[in-house]
Amino acid sequence: MKFNYIQKTPLYDSFSEIGKRIFLPEGIFHWSGRAKKEAELIGTIGTAYGFEKDFIEGGSSDWLPCYLNEIAEYTSLNVKQIVPYASIGGLIEIREIWKDWIIRKANYDKEKENDSLLRLEKYITTPVITAGVTNGIYHSCSLFLNSGEIIIAPNKRWGNYDNIIEKFIGAKIKSFEFFKDQNINLESLESAINEVAKIQEKIIMILNFPNNPTGYVPLKKEVNEIVSLLREQQKTQEKPILVIVDDAYEPYVYSDEVSNRSIFYDLHQLDENVIPIKLDGITKELLMYGGRIGFMTFGLKSSWVKKDEELESLKSEIHNKLEGFNRATISNCNHFYQSITQKLFKEKGIEQFLSSRKKVKDLLKKRYEKINSELIKINNPDISIDPNSGGFFLFLNLNPNKIRANEFGDHLLRKFKVGIIPIEKPEEKINGIRIAYCSIDLNDIPELVRRINLALDDF
Ligand SMILES: Cc1ncc(COP(=O)(O)O)c(C=O)c1O
Repeated sequence: MKFNYIQKTPLYDSFSEIGKRIFLPEGIFHWSGRAKKEAELIGTIGTAYGFEKDFIEGGSSDWLPCYLNEIAEYTSLNVKQIVPYASIGGLIEIREIWKDWIIRKANYDKEKENDSLLRLEKYITTPVITAGVTNGIYHSCSLFLNSGEIIIAPNKRWGNYDNIIEKFIGAKIKSFEFFKDQNINLESLESAINEVAKIQEKIIMILNFPNNPTGYVPLKKEVNEIVSLLREQQKTQEKPILVIVDDAYEPYVYSDEVSNRSIFYDLHQLDENVIPIKLDGITKELLMYGGRIGFMTFGLKSSWVKKDEELESLKSEIHNKLEGFNRATISNCNHFYQSITQKLFKEKGIEQFLSSRKKVKDLLKKRYEKINSELIKINNPDISIDPNSGGFFLFLNLNPNKIRANEFGDHLLRKFKVGIIPIEKPEEKINGIRIAYCSIDLNDIPELVRRINLALDDF
């Protein structure tokens, strides 16, 4: 495939060596696609097929992918929806369903925000399916980062970013301090951008709201500030800013004060080359953690193309690169969970699963309110809670001069039988515990906080 249109966008120069090199060769797909249309006898793809009656007792005369009779005991789904390979970029029906879902999640008011809606509909790629959000993080980072290059991330971040970016890809994370006086620390973000801009021709960052480990979601005002900062920086630095938006916890926002729309949308609306890449998935959003289905969607800029045909070609080129990543690493994603996702949307319908999910969200919201209201009662100058309004966690900072997080975690577990995740990274100025209140019953929260309080007194 030729990448004529990507080459005209700032994406191309920002690609890593792998990003430049990778593509999905036509090979098997070309020949099997042609064979489906042109051949009488098809011997192209490595999937065993047969008449069902030849391998299943009492089977039909249908030509089906061969399967083990026993699996039928565990699911009522049709074998065609489970057994064959899903396409490399994911089943097209589900990719399109998810694209519509992304548009719906923006919640644009057709009357007042029609221009934004039209831009969103037209200038995003059809999501490519990844093996969970983690795989999307790996792919998007590999697409842009060579070993030794830098990506900006908040100091309080999901620990797996470090595994993927530093240990696996060999790139470096430039941290900015997430909070200053309970608000996002934009000065620190700005100075991280300035530093990176001195040594790199592209600025890459990863943002995640609601955040793991803190539960932080920016206020609407803060979203505007982040967006203006990135826009201004892009103009002054004259370098593309690529923002990987990790939306793993997107729907779990519990306060009306904060933004309930992913920052992806506002970044996408900018004319400047602030380029957002949205990563979301069924993991937390549809509560199917083991399903391993994520989506990777690029926000494009209207200035990159002159005509609609060029836009379509550009999208195909991007899809091809991302499919190249899938093919080279995971080949394709879980078919069974893609089928379940499709059925949820098409057979049950969005309203129905949203109302089922609301029950879970309400549970989590009550726990969020309870744990915050209980923790705030602890009168201890050696602790502080980070701002939090969503997600599955909150973060309790501990005074590093008195309480080492790892020792405290051990103490809490041994003596008070409470399990949390201590995070102790002095170089990042982090010393505290992440509490996953998503997994603690509401009625147990006062007891949890009582024990934390006792453990603090007893430390
Ligand atoms: C911030 C963040 N991003 C991504 C993920 C991973 O999502 P997935 O399980 O879909 O790979 C997690 C899971 O813990 C997470 O906390």
